[in-house]
Amino acid sequence: MNEKRVKTGVIGLDKLLNGGLLPGRSILLSGPCGSGKSILAVQFLYNGATKFKEKGLYINLEEEKHRIFGNMQTLGLNLERLEKKNDLMIIGGQIAGIDDYMYKVGADVNHIIEEIEELVKQNKVKRVVIDSINLLTMLCKDNIEKRKVLTRLTHRLNNLDCTSILISEVKENTTNLSRFGIEEFVVDGVIGLYLLRNGDRFIPGIVVRKMRGSDHDKSIRLYKITKRGIEVYPNETLFTEI
Ligand SMILES: Nc1ncnc2c1ncn2[C@@H]1O[C@H](COP(=O)(O)OP(=O)(O)OP(=O)(O)O)[C@@H](O)[C@H]1O
Ligand SMILES: [Mg+2]
Repeated sequence: MNEKRVKTGVIGLDKLLNGGLLPGRSILLSGPCGSGKSILAVQFLYNGATKFKEKGLYINLEEEKHRIFGNMQTLGLNLERLEKKNDLMIIGGQIAGIDDYMYKVGADVNHIIEEIEELVKQNKVKRVVIDSINLLTMLCKDNIEKRKVLTRLTHRLNNLDCTSILISEVKENTTNLSRFGIEEFVVDGVIGLYLLRNGDRFIPGIVVRKMRGSDHDKSIRLYKITKRGIEVYPNETLFTEI
């Protein structure tokens, strides 16, 4: 296939994706706490900036920047250096006064989307990560608004030719892909991380659940979080076929 692909650069993952993500698409990355969502998404940006000359924007609505730097440094990802070189923009802790928004009834989430769009445009960003979209959707008053807001966000990013990963936090012990059951239908693709309990351990599994316009691997594959970040084992399934 000669079609242009946006490589994640995450070991093993591009093989599951038939070479990488399709450019300008929005992907939901879902998983329970500690499954490695933030690490995987940051690797996507880090590799984009260091290997593929694609500038990244990482928006973390909850964690402060110095903590993000510290966490990723333990995996050999020096985000501070990339930011100084202007290859990666990091917004941590708050955007558009998110703290105030959270506690204000009727807060306008569209303002946040406009800010993100402006940042992408002004800085010619090609890869965006929003970590996570749960807070954004929780600011919407009902399911119709959630759907509209997410559609607006993904369309705006797509129109700017930007490939985006939207992180979705899901509850423990479910096969849900999102908090509200809407998010996975709005996006172009879904990658799910699972922690499957086996005796006294959790076995990490990754699956490409959907990818509009592309073939992809359909099995749950083993992955690990090592000191170099996420590594996917594209030939290893978690269950033997019956
Ligand atoms: N340096 C490291 N070496 C090995 N494993 C690590 C290292 N740093 C973090 N981890 C593993 O990665 C996990 C955190 O990954 P990450 O923050 O990406 O999860 P997450 O899915 O984003 O979680 P949350 O939903 O809480 O935001 C840790 O709980 C730990 O198991
Ligand atoms: Mg996280």
